[in-house]
Formats: sequence, C-alpha cells, structure tokens
Amino acid sequence: MGKYEAISKKITHMLHGADYNPEQWIDFKGIWDEDVRLMKLANCNVMAVGIFSWTALEKEEGKFNFQWLDDVMDNLYKNGIKVILATPSGARPAWMSQKYPEVLRVDEMRQRNLHGERHNHCYTSPIYREKVRIINTKLAERYKNHPALIMWHVSNEFEGECHCELCQEAFRNWLKEKYNGDLDKLNKAWWTGFWSHTYTDWSQIESPSPKGEINLHGLNLDWRRFVTYKTIDFFKSEIVPLKNITPEIPVTTNFHDYINLSKGIDYWKFAPYLDVISWDNYPYWHKEKTDAMEGSRRAFIHDMNRSFKGGKPFLMMESSPSATNWQPVAKLRRPSMHTLASIQAIAHGSDSVQYFQWRKSRGSSEKFHGAVVDHCGHENTRVFKEVSKLGEILSKLDSVVGTSVKPEVAVIYDWENFWAMNDAEGPRKEKKDYFETCVKHYKGFWDRGIPVDVINMDQDFSKYKVLVAPMLYMVREGVGERIEDFVKKGGTFVTTYWSGIVDENDLCFLGGFPGPLRKVTGIWSEELDALYDDDVNYVSFKEENALKIKGQYEARIFCDLIHAETAKVLATYKEDFYKGMPAVTENLFGKGKAYYIAFRENDNFLSDFYKSLSIKCGLKRVLDTELPDGVTAKLRTDGEKEFIFVLNFTKDSKVMDLKNMKFKDMITSKEVKDKLHLKPYGVEILQTKL
Ligand code: GLA
Ligand code: ZN
Repeated sequence: MGKYEAISKKITHMLHGADYNPEQWIDFKGIWDEDVRLMKLANCNVMAVGIFSWTALEKEEGKFNFQWLDDVMDNLYKNGIKVILATPSGARPAWMSQKYPEVLRVDEMRQRNLHGERHNHCYTSPIYREKVRIINTKLAERYKNHPALIMWHVSNEFEGECHCELCQEAFRNWLKEKYNGDLDKLNKAWWTGFWSHTYTDWSQIESPSPKGEINLHGLNLDWRRFVTYKTIDFFKSEIVPLKNITPEIPVTTNFHDYINLSKGIDYWKFAPYLDVISWDNYPYWHKEKTDAMEGSRRAFIHDMNRSFKGGKPFLMMESSPSATNWQPVAKLRRPSMHTLASIQAIAHGSDSVQYFQWRKSRGSSEKFHGAVVDHCGHENTRVFKEVSKLGEILSKLDSVVGTSVKPEVAVIYDWENFWAMNDAEGPRKEKKDYFETCVKHYKGFWDRGIPVDVINMDQDFSKYKVLVAPMLYMVREGVGERIEDFVKKGGTFVTTYWSGIVDENDLCFLGGFPGPLRKVTGIWSEELDALYDDDVNYVSFKEENALKIKGQYEARIFCDLIHAETAKVLATYKEDFYKGMPAVTENLFGKGKAYYIAFRENDNFLSDFYKSLSIKCGLKRVLDTELPDGVTAKLRTDGEKEFIFVLNFTKDSKVMDLKNMKFKDMITSKEVKDKLHLKPYGVEILQTKL
C-alpha cells in the first residue's frame, strides 16, 4: 500500500494549532505579538482564522476592512505558522438580518427567528447566497497568493434547517424531480392513504411540523434528505469563488461529532464535495467507570471520518485541551488524557491536532471553555504545558503524515437507517440506541486491536473480509443483493435483531422479515419482543457450536423471535414463551457465512462473539499479542514502514508481552522489546521494519 493522497502538498508535518479569534482582542495592545510568542512555545504550526469574523470584515454593508486580517496573516507567516482561513458564513452581521429578514431562518412552527446565535440563516435565500459570494470572493482575491494560506475552512459546522416559504418551494421542486412529477408515485411512497393524508396537488405539501404533519414517515425521511441536499447545495455555492480564484487550495468544513442527531446531515452525501475531511471531537472523558467505552466511541467516529474518503487522512479540526463547557459537567482532562486523546486522533488517521480555541474568551458563553491560553494569560499552566509537550511529540511524527490503514472489517453506520428507526413508533420509544449499539459491536474489534472502517450501506463491501451491520432496519434497494454477493464470494456478514424491516421509503417489507436479508441469513423473524428496562431473558450456547462459545448471556431490551430456515442454531433463549427459540444463528451461504444475533446483549457477549469470530476469520491484529483490558492498538502504514499506536484508556499502568517483536519508540528512538509498559492513560508510538 502506497501513501494515501496527501491532504495537501503544503502539509508535510503534523498540524498542531487552534481556532484563533484575534479580532476579539483587537483593543488589547501587544496581545497579538504575545499570542505568536506563546504559539511558538506551544509548538503550534497552524491557526484557523476568520471563523465568525464577518462583522469585523464588513461592519457596514459593502465597506470592507481586511487590514487586521492582513496583519494577523503576515505575522503568523513570519513566525512559521500556517493559516487555515475560514469563510465567515457561520454567523452574519446584525445589519444584514435587519435589512434583509429573508436571510433569517423560519422554524418548524413557521416563526421567523430573530437575529442572534449562529447557523441561523436560510440556505435557500438568494440574498444570503449573494452576500456570501461577495465576501468569499473578496477573501479569495485578497489572500490567493498569501504564503500562509494552506486551506479553506468553509463556514462552521453546517447544521439545522429552515422552513421558510423559499425553502418550502425548494422542497416541493426537489420532490417533483425525485418523483418525476408524478404525485401518485409520491403518495404511494409515503403511504398517504393513512388518515386520509393523500395529496391532490403539489402545493399542499409542507415540511414536517408539530403544528401540521409529522406522522408520514416517508415525508419525514424525504425532508431529512432534502435538508442534507440543501446544505450541500449551499456549500457548493459557497466554494465557487474559492475554487475559481484559488483552485490549488483545498477546502474543508468541520463536521460535528454529533453523528446521532435526529435532525443531522448525512455526511456520506457531503464528503465527496470536500477535498479534506475534518471534524470536531468533544469526548466525555472521566464520566464512566473506565474511559474505554468513550475511547471506542471516539475511535468509531475517527474511523468513520477516515472512511469517508476511502482511507484518506483527515484533520481533527477542534478538540478541547481541557474542559468542554457546554457539556453538563465540564470535567477537566486528567493528566495525560490530553496526550492520549490527541494521539488517538493521529492513530486513526488524523494529520492534525487542533483545538477550540487558542485564547479563552473573556466574555459570553465560551468564556469557560477550555483553551490553550487561559485568562491568566501566560504559559505556566498545566494545560499549556501538556499542549506544548504534545507539540513536541507531533514534531517527531513527520513520517506518519499521509499514511493510513486498510482494514479487513467494516461496520455499517447509516444516517437514513438511523432517521427511519428513530421515527418508528415501537417496538420501544426509548433505548433504540442505534449509535451505541454500533459502537458496542465495533468495540469487539477495538478490544483486540483490529482495524475497522465505518461505512454506510452504499459503500463497496468487496474489500472486506467481515461486514457487520447492527440493526440494519432499513435496507435500500440493491443492498440485500450486494450483501448476498459479498457472502457468496466468501465474506462473513453479521447482523442483528430489527434488521431488514423497511425499504428506502420506510415501507415495511412484505412476505417475512428480515426482507432482503432473509436468504442470506437463513432465518425468518416472526415477531420482535420489546422488554421493559428491568426485564431479562437469557441466551445459552449449545455444547457444540461453530463459534466455540461457552455459557450463558443476558438478553435485554430487544428479543427477536426467529425461526432457522437454512441457518444452524448456535444458541437459544432460556426463558419465557419463546424458550428454545434460536437466539444466535449461522448460515453457510456460497463460500461465506452470515450470523444473526437475535437479542440485545447486556454483558460480555459481543466481546466473546467477536473474539471467536476474528479467530475463525483469521483477522490480522495490529499486535499479535493479548491486549490488556482498556488498551487498544492502531496502525498506520505507508506500505513499508508500520506505525503502531498503543493506547491505554485506563487510569492503571499496564504491561504487555511483546513476545519476540521488536520496535523503535518513535519519541525516544530507543529499541522496545520483551515487555511494553504503559503508564496510566499512557501512549506508545512504535515503528516496525526499522
Ligand atoms: C463547536 C464550534 C466552535 C465552538 C466549540 C465549543 O465545535 O465549532 O466554534 O463553539 O463548539 O466546543
Ligand atoms: Zn429558508
């Protein structure tokens, strides 16, 4: 495997930096020079500048002031710091909202918002688009030859939706195109015969609203698709001037870490339009008994961001060097957690560690958010020292830049599936927990240090040995066939309860669940039992079973009542009226196998299951040795050299047996053999093939 396409030719070192908002400090004489002095001390080499700077750049309509930005960019450049320059469209000046109210969003109750907050603008509004075009053109023209500029940071965390008349009209046009102008087709897809909801004219269609229609699931789903489309359409119009004037400069926009938002955007649709993927990572550390679960949630999202472009490295555009003040409890990162969380990003394919933000705000809602420079204003703080130490570590990782990994395993996480499942009334209102369930399956591999891609159901499955699709409730057209093909050719497929239920219009499959997955799994799901929180059933494995799993496990929340058709039964339920019915099955199909897990586990089941499965499938581990609990190992490679990251997400020291493997410690350059010692929250970065 050669190097992946570099995120930019101009990036040859790991990037280390932060969101930098110097315009908030314009009245503080000398502070910008002090910033640069501190940036160098913190071993920072990049700053993201200009996010939310619109009013500072255009205080009055058409009157532009770039002087301060020129000074900042020049000063950063002179001091060896590169700039990721933002377009300011994440928030707009008050004069614009006042003069052109159409730029303001209308909420689902059909009320126009007041000026304020951010992301509060209509993506359809021609006026907003024109204003963005003007400012982006000015920025691109002014800085096109600036040597500090390495990337465009377009807007900031695109999110939300607008229900104004312009958006309603755009929605109806989008629907007309989707349904080829055939209203009858739409009515069928949305099952509008229900409650006499049939549309007889396109003009009757409105976006979902608690004041109107929220029970047509097909409408809800198409609305979410439209919001994704509209956001991307706006983004595409934003980057026209950037692409025309600075074709060499890559564009990115920072994705959220909220990938389980019921009103989110399908990032799989967005990703192809970005040159570089970047995302904002705000973990909840030190909340659970160990940090291994949160570590694997973060790992899952990192892997998804790397998978968006088939393994191309990405950027961790934001993270907090300490507390995250908008979380319910802004707990400080314990010593060493900063290094661990940052190196975790690198281990999964990030070519940067960046923070929100450089200097802590003095006022407003972010004044208590973790930052590199605290209100005290100097470098003698615990956080500053950790940041600076991390910068030193990153400076030794030039050879890792541009490298990646090709996993043998993929886990499916699919936005449309999530939206549809979330919308369903039943079998349980709460605890559907699609994201958390996917992460728990993923963790089976994380625990063993097996690399994983996180993909959606439209991606190519053929490059994997194992494909895991927990709760694949929606199966879009053709996906069932592609899974069959994957298994026929020798792949191993794992799915669970509540899979193969609806098609892409959220219409139930007729003729027996799991619909298009029935043949490949060799089972028929007759009913799905939803359990109360305190209910428990048990699953026990047969003496002789293909996975050699022994013992009994708890089943909670969901128990699927399935019949084995062509599948072999590996485990059965122990209690209730479905005692003796299959709970885990294996179906031999072509050259491969498909497993169906009928229940939601509550203990070590997934860990045991995936351990057994990975051995059976011969999956390669990053380190061929047992990893202690809470420790994982990740790999990046350029095809020759291998870089191995061993990460300890516990507050205990751990020791690992390296058998006869030998490595170079990339930080100390010393040889590492026999035993690997990990400190609490410790990290080791090793290189093989010296
Ligand atoms: C988001 C935004 C930043 C900042 C941080 C605070 O990620 O992009 O501007 O508000 O949250 O955590
Ligand atoms: Zn609108």
